[in-house]
Amino acid sequence: MIDKKEILDSYHFRHACKVFDANKTITDEDFNFLLEVARLSPTSFGMQGVKLYVITDAKTKQNLKPLCWNQNQIDSCSHLVVFTTKTKDLKPNSEWVKDRFAERGLNDAMQKAYLNRYESFHNEGEFTKDIYQWGSRQAYIIMANMLSVAATIGIDSCPIEGFEKSNVEKYLDIDTTKEQVSVITAFGYRVNPQSIKNRLPQDAIVEFIR
Ligand SMILES: Cc1cc2nc3c(=O)[nH]c(=O)nc-3n(C[C@H](O)[C@H](O)[C@H](O)COP(=O)(O)O)c2cc1C
Repeated sequence: MIDKKEILDSYHFRHACKVFDANKTITDEDFNFLLEVARLSPTSFGMQGVKLYVITDAKTKQNLKPLCWNQNQIDSCSHLVVFTTKTKDLKPNSEWVKDRFAERGLNDAMQKAYLNRYESFHNEGEFTKDIYQWGSRQAYIIMANMLSVAATIGIDSCPIEGFEKSNVEKYLDIDTTKEQVSVITAFGYRVNPQSIKNRLPQDAIVEFIR
């Protein structure tokens, strides 16, 4: 087991880094480790209907910067990740969804039961009807795991919602009938010390129902 203090130390180390050292690059080994964390992250129904566009090219980062509120993280980071969620393929009864269930080695009756549950979950679910919103929530889970684990190996990061979605999609030539951008994250190494952590006390966000 990993020491609890070490884990919490890494949560204190992680902060929304505003500017990275543009001369420091994350090694392939470290970044592949973070990509493996992404791959192993949980998603609803285990669908993994996401894609991570990993951008290391300086020109591409510079071109994206004005589409991301001119934030300095965009072109100073080592690796910029644009998370998209599938839209078309995640719809109930798509061939892609059928393949995902078929891969599990379930018998025909079980596969059918899963497909029916998936269909009613999306067609009748109170908070799951919008495939883009649902898929994006899965992308955020993956992103959150990557941010936390990055901190455990001394890699800084910044989650980014400050961007113009349709312009980023246009620039990256994303076919929005099939996938759409959910969130962006920058990874690299800080240049400035982090600011003081500002958090509500636990009892402001937690209520036990016993
Ligand atoms: C989904 C999400 C989107 C965010 N978008 C931005 C952003 O566009 N630019 C930025 O500087 N910080 C962004 N942040 C960082 C938050 O402002 C920051 O996490 C929060 O203030 C807490 O500070 P800390 O992460 O440094 O502890 C975002 C955070 C999250 C979780």
